[in-house]
This record gives sequence, C-alpha cells and structure tokens, in this order.
Amino acid sequence: MEPFVTQPYLLSIRPATEMQVVWIQRSPAAGTVEYGSSRALGRVTAAVCYELTGLRGPASEAGYAPEPEENPPLRLWQCIASIGGLKPGERVYYRCRSGQTMTQVYHFHTAPLPGEPFRFGLVSDLQATAPCEHTVRCIGRRKPDFLLYSGDCTFHSWRADQWFDLQAPWQDEQSRRRAFFPCMQQTGGAQLMQFCPTFLCPGNHEVDDLRVGTDPAFAVRDEQWSWSIYMQLFRPLYPEGDAGLHGKRWYSVDYGDMHITSLHIARWARWEACQAPGWRLTDPIAPGSPQRQWLEQDLAGAGTKFKWVIQHWHLLNKGTDTQVNLCQPVADGLGRVAYPEDLGAGLQALYEARGVNAVSYGHSHVYERYYHRGVHYIEAAYLGGCCREANAPLHPSGLKPVVEDNSRQSFLMVQRTRGGLFAQGSYAGETLRLFDAYQIADEDGKGIPPI
Ligand SMILES: [Fe+2]
Ligand SMILES: [Fe+2]
Repeated sequence: MEPFVTQPYLLSIRPATEMQVVWIQRSPAAGTVEYGSSRALGRVTAAVCYELTGLRGPASEAGYAPEPEENPPLRLWQCIASIGGLKPGERVYYRCRSGQTMTQVYHFHTAPLPGEPFRFGLVSDLQATAPCEHTVRCIGRRKPDFLLYSGDCTFHSWRADQWFDLQAPWQDEQSRRRAFFPCMQQTGGAQLMQFCPTFLCPGNHEVDDLRVGTDPAFAVRDEQWSWSIYMQLFRPLYPEGDAGLHGKRWYSVDYGDMHITSLHIARWARWEACQAPGWRLTDPIAPGSPQRQWLEQDLAGAGTKFKWVIQHWHLLNKGTDTQVNLCQPVADGLGRVAYPEDLGAGLQALYEARGVNAVSYGHSHVYERYYHRGVHYIEAAYLGGCCREANAPLHPSGLKPVVEDNSRQSFLMVQRTRGGLFAQGSYAGETLRLFDAYQIADEDGKGIPPI
C-alpha cells in the first residue's frame, strides 16, 4: 500500500527563511526531503518522525460508530523536515521519500522582501461541506503565495477519515475528496498546500472531542479540553506543543510587508450560550489573559506596513446562532443572552489603535464583510450552506455589512500590489465571476473605506 497518507504540506513561522515540509505516512519509515534551487535538487535533509495520537479509525467495515471510544485508535506517523538558511523570495524544489517511495517534485518560494507583491486566498470551515473541493480548487488555480485558514478543518477532529483519504471501501468517493487534506492538496491545475505555506488558526471544531460543547458533565473536567490532534497535524505552528486548556495556540509571522497574527478565539462552552449560570469556561481573549497580553505586544511590535488578524470567531456578524464571543446568559429562564457593554469593542479598539487592516474569520459559513474605523472585518466562507437563520438580525452594535452575498459559493483572494492591498471575491462556479472587488489598504498601509 502507498506509504503516503498525505502529500507534503508546508508550514512555517519564519516563511522568509525557513520552511517545514510535513507529511503523514502509514509507518514509522525513515523520511527524507531532497531539495535544491532547480529540479536537479542536490541536497538532502532527514525528517523527524512522530507517531500521531488521538486519531481513530472506523469501528467496523461499515464505518464509524457515533462516540469516539467506540472506534479503535488509528496509528499513523508524521514526518517533518526543516529546510532553513533560505533567502527571502527564494524558490525551492523538493520531493519527499518515505522508505523506498518518493513523491513527485514540488516547489515553493519563501516570503518576499517588503514591497514585493504577493497573493493569498482565504479558506475556512471546509468540514466536508459540499462542494468544498470545487471552491478550494478555484483558489488553488490562482496559485496563491500562501493560504489563511480560519479554523474548522473537520467536524470531528478524532475521525481520521475527515482528515484523510484512508482508501477504505466504506469511505465513499465524495467523502474522500472532501476530507481536509485531499481537498487542500488537490491538483487539476491547482497549487495548494504542497506549494505554499498555510497559516491556520483553530476553530471550535478543532477541539479533540466535541462533547465538550454538548455534554456539561463531560465538559466540566479540564482534561477533556484538548486540541492535540490539530496541534500535532500543524505542529510547526505551535512549537510549545501544549495542547491543554491553557496551552498557547496563537502566533504571528511576517510575510513580505504584512504581519499575520493568528489567534485562538472560539466559544468555549460548557453549556448553551443562553443557559445560566454561565457557559464560559474561560475567556481566551479577555483583557489581562495571556493571549490578550501577547496580542497587545505582538501588534505593538509589528513593524510591517500591513497587519492582518485571523481568528475563528467573529467580531462583527449578523445572526443569533453565533453570538459574539463575549456574551453571557441572562438568568431569567427565557433563554436570552446579554452582550457586554463594549460588544467586543475592546478588541476592535485594539485593532484600530494598532493599524490592523483586516480581521478575517469563519464559523457562520457566509460571505459578509464590514468596515469600521479603518478595519475591514471579513468572512469569506460561503461554501453552500449558512450556519445562520434566514432574516438574521443585525449585529447588536447596529453595524450593517457592506456586502453580504450567500447566493452562490464563493471565495476571496487578496493581492498586495503596488498601491496597497486589494481584495477580489468571486463565485466558484464553472466560470468564475467576480462579484466583489475592493481596496483594503493604501500603499501606506492605511485602511480604505468602502466606496
Ligand atoms: Fe465554527
Ligand atoms: Fe464551521
């Protein structure tokens, strides 16, 4: 059987000078990466091999049983090879070897020097939503320099079939294609995770066991709150490796003249949002929290012209299904929630003060964008099914979206060209159709209001 479970994927927190080449394989066979400045390659580096823990295979030949523990652990291994000492903008060709089997030759380039152009695509919330593979292929055909992934890779993180094509008879053709890695590594004219780094942040579905969001008795035990599968699969982004409740799941990178800050903001619920006496396990972004302190320092220290934040949870959105991150239940038995006085504006004020150009997120599975005091708030995650009600009420602040379009599945590409940052939203149909084009920031890095 083919030893590779995924093709190589690229991750880095220093994308101008180093890249980690990562893949998943069926055995602990030694892995190496050959690489060089041309297809002749010429250099070799050994990969470090890790056994993955927490993933599960199906209970029977018929497929998965509902609860995680009813399904056996699935043993898979991860190889990570580090290519360092690179120069900004350098092109690198590479292929991976596992035992006696090699991949084809792929290539990537490092982040360019400030001032140079680049192009990136926004992705999130694939979760095998039909037909997510087509939307992702449209992004890949634009040959992005990197991808921003705003969380919710799968529905159940422990289910190996939601990450991989396991080549098992019970895994139907569509679910094979829509599993995270097959979708994010498809070819057919697309260049995706094999060719460019992906910067992810965790969503609410990245927790190892979703019962923390549905079963209060289960959720009260701190040890049930773990993000180990996500953190293993994207290990180079989280070098501290603490998958527990208080682990660090935030980081930042510079790509050309843009600073990218990736946060872990999701509703960490022990109960429904409206259920007294309170559902918040911990507020991971509250003033004074470790993540907030880090964020304040990170944004203050960013010396780049442009700044971009990715997080899973909204700051501005319509609908009641996805109440803002900081809401609390009202103990009146009517199932109401109350929003804090600032409606999350403390975080918004920080973004405004530090010149953040855009905050992109997912979770509602919509295409919707806002502009408020110099900052663009963007969700470009409409893959064919919204997670909100029809006639959704406005955000409690009363702010209205500049554009909202959930008529067809779509995607957003952003370009840093001479003149600033520009965004283009296109429908992901058989023929691409641009439906939303706007400027995010000017050449000085200042936010451009919508016309
Ligand atoms: Fe979500
Ligand atoms: Fe989602």
